[in-house]
Amino acid sequence: MNNIKAFGNTDELAAAAAEYVLEAARQSIKDHGTFSIALAGGSTPRKLYALLAGRDAEWSKWQFFMSDERYVPHDDGRSNQKLANETLLNELSIDPGQIHAVPVEEPSAEQAARRYEDEIHRYFNAGSGKRPAFDLILLGMGSDAHTASLFPGKPALEETYRLVVASKPGVLPPPVDRVTFTLPLINAARRVLFMAAGADKAEAFQKVRRDLEHSSEQTTTPAGMVCPESGELLWFVDRATAAA
Ligand code: 6PG
Repeated sequence: MNNIKAFGNTDELAAAAAEYVLEAARQSIKDHGTFSIALAGGSTPRKLYALLAGRDAEWSKWQFFMSDERYVPHDDGRSNQKLANETLLNELSIDPGQIHAVPVEEPSAEQAARRYEDEIHRYFNAGSGKRPAFDLILLGMGSDAHTASLFPGKPALEETYRLVVASKPGVLPPPVDRVTFTLPLINAARRVLFMAAGADKAEAFQKVRRDLEHSSEQTTTPAGMVCPESGELLWFVDRATAAA
């Protein structure tokens, strides 16, 4: 499959991902004046974010969202926003209004999800009835083949209308409530880039590859259900994940 690229190690993967993100930004800004990106959570994107922080770009044209978030304060070590702030966003001289963090100060994950969904609708002026289309959504994959906070067998994975929902934790840590993009929002994106690394993901990635090769049949994995309607889908993996 030509949308899967395997790299020798995570440094090569992150370097290629940085070039891809910067080019997507250049194209988007040239095309419509802004670049809307949803950052991935977890630890894999850390190297990518650190590389981007050292590069030149038209940062004032970027709008930063999170494709999912743990329902914890943004100064909590488990927060995806904390990782993004410390490795990338705090290094950029951008307007705070360019950072669209999940409002975890809301009294519940469900209320945070609804408020985040409203913010996405407002930003994309989706009153026009069109589903918001991010220029780029970054995603990771867990060893159970979950992506964002769409966990196998959980209701959030079955959502077909809402753009953002609350999600109960899956089997992988941390066991906290989440707020997550849904498949309808992810699959409306212009570009989706997955990054996955490590031998612990090889079995899950093998299942995802089968899903991607047989997309017309019943898919078995959350990550394998990401199939942008008209956007580009790319998987950047390291040799260990691709090994199976
Ligand atoms: C989260 C992430 C999650 C992550 C995968 C991979 O909130 O945990 O969004 O979907 O991307 O679990 O995590 P690692 O990159 O840490 O392996």
